[in-house]
Amino acid sequence: MSKRDPRRVAIVTGGAGGLGLAITRALISGGCAVLLTDIDGDAAAKAAASVEGECKATELDVTRKPEFEKVLELACSHWGGAGILVNNAALTKTTPIFDISGDEFDHVVAIALKGTFLGCQVLGRYFADQRYGRIINMASLAGQNGGAATGAHYAAAKGGILTLTKVFARELASAGVTVNAISPGPLDLDSVRNLLPPDKLASVVQSIPVGTLGDAGFVARLIELLTSPDAVSATGATYDLNGGLYLR
Ligand SMILES: NC(=O)c1ccc[n+]([C@@H]2O[C@H](COP(=O)([O-])OP(=O)(O)OC[C@H]3O[C@@H](n4cnc5c(N)ncnc54)[C@H](O)[C@@H]3O)[C@@H](O)[C@H]2O)c1
Repeated sequence: MSKRDPRRVAIVTGGAGGLGLAITRALISGGCAVLLTDIDGDAAAKAAASVEGECKATELDVTRKPEFEKVLELACSHWGGAGILVNNAALTKTTPIFDISGDEFDHVVAIALKGTFLGCQVLGRYFADQRYGRIINMASLAGQNGGAATGAHYAAAKGGILTLTKVFARELASAGVTVNAISPGPLDLDSVRNLLPPDKLASVVQSIPVGTLGDAGFVARLIELLTSPDAVSATGATYDLNGGLYLR
């Protein structure tokens, strides 16, 4: 075991690539040790090996509560505790509304919404017992405005995450645990380029008032800031990073 200040030990879900890996790098730059988790254990191991700093990988399917419990045990046995959870895992689908099967709906919602709930439940209880914790839930612009390119299941799950964030923030505030949501618009990531054909992507970019896709590195740095020990009063909020696509 290499003992660390538990406040600077983070668990990131869906961390094998894209934004999850950017978040891992930002947390490590900020002085954290990171347990990088993903349903794809091999990809998680590769991603962790690509990061300079204290980063350990393990497999975690966020739809399974016992797996969250095991991941927490691993962080405790390896570093002596944990203080940060980033619920980042999701499955982004663009299936047209009338083509979404019941099974596909359940699957997408189980990963994004139930996965976030289980993470908040397992780590939230542990953090409350420790009287310290920082939870970040990855939401999306789609959860606020219904979405332009993504499917109804994805948008609805992300809307649910905004509500879950408030529920857990209220429940855990007096125990020293903050819970916030991050709500980006389309980011400059492979996941977006793979989902949208070039002409559709160009029209999405054209519709963004600031004229460019969002920067994953910046989103990750905001998360690092919100998970620092002095981020005491930031809780129950949703941070919009959508280039002006949605103003409220
Ligand atoms: N990319 C964007 O433009 C954008 C915009 C708004 C919000 N977001 C949100 O940011 C987060 C990351 O986005 P991304 O583009 O990096 O996504 P991504 O698809 O590249 O990565 C998601 C990761 O989650 C993992 N995953 C899938 N199912 C899982 C499960 N059951 N358990 C654990 N891990 C699982 C995948 O293996 C993958 O590594 C997601 O929550 C997404 O909804 C992204």
